[in-house]
Amino acid sequence: MLKNILRLALKFLYDQIFLMENYLNNWTINDGVTFFKKIGIKNGQIVLDFGCGKGNNTLPIARILGEKGLIYSLDKDKPSLEELTKRAKIEKLNNIKTIHSKYKIKIPLANNYLDATILYDVIHPYYFSDAERKELLSEVHRILKKEGFISVYPHHMELEYVKNEIEKTNFKFENEYSATIIHDDKPIKDKVFNFCKTKR
Ligand SMILES: C[S@@+](CC[C@H](N)C(=O)[O-])C[C@H]1O[C@@H](n2cnc3c(N)ncnc32)[C@H](O)[C@@H]1O
Repeated sequence: MLKNILRLALKFLYDQIFLMENYLNNWTINDGVTFFKKIGIKNGQIVLDFGCGKGNNTLPIARILGEKGLIYSLDKDKPSLEELTKRAKIEKLNNIKTIHSKYKIKIPLANNYLDATILYDVIHPYYFSDAERKELLSEVHRILKKEGFISVYPHHMELEYVKNEIEKTNFKFENEYSATIIHDDKPIKDKVFNFCKTKR
């Protein structure tokens, strides 16, 4: 009896892991590519994935950017960046530059340089106080081109609050997108928000 329960539990776990891996693979090759094209990522752009983790968003973006484009994947967590580098190698993506950041706010990139910055599941109180979020958003504003944009997935925060906060740092709300995206390696139906540096 106990053996059977254990066998069933193991099979269930195995199936879940298999399903998740399949979903993540499909996200980086298909669904994520479709999603990031929809939110404005284009071939040849220069993009920053701030707080990239192990690269669930970096990888599909890198596919869109192609050889002429470049994505900076920045995180404070070295093991996550190492995993991202391994995944990029397997997928033969050569347009990803990882940045192991020693700063909380400062971003070591030039002024008016980027077409887009992705801020997914990182702008929230677990990582930044209200004052720090304001500073970080100003820093992101500095490195974007005049026609650049940010895309924000403000998980763990009240939407109107975040929107207000972002607009106070001189970004203009542009659009919201509903989609199935990835949160903590799992699919989730949610919304992301785009803001531009200057009204287009
Ligand atoms: C919840 S994870 C989200 C990862 C990824 N953006 C995603 O959506 O899958 C947040 C990531 O932000 C990183 N992070 C938090 N604060 C940071 C900071 N000040 N500088 C760089 N990375 C940071 C964490 O190490 C973590 O990998």
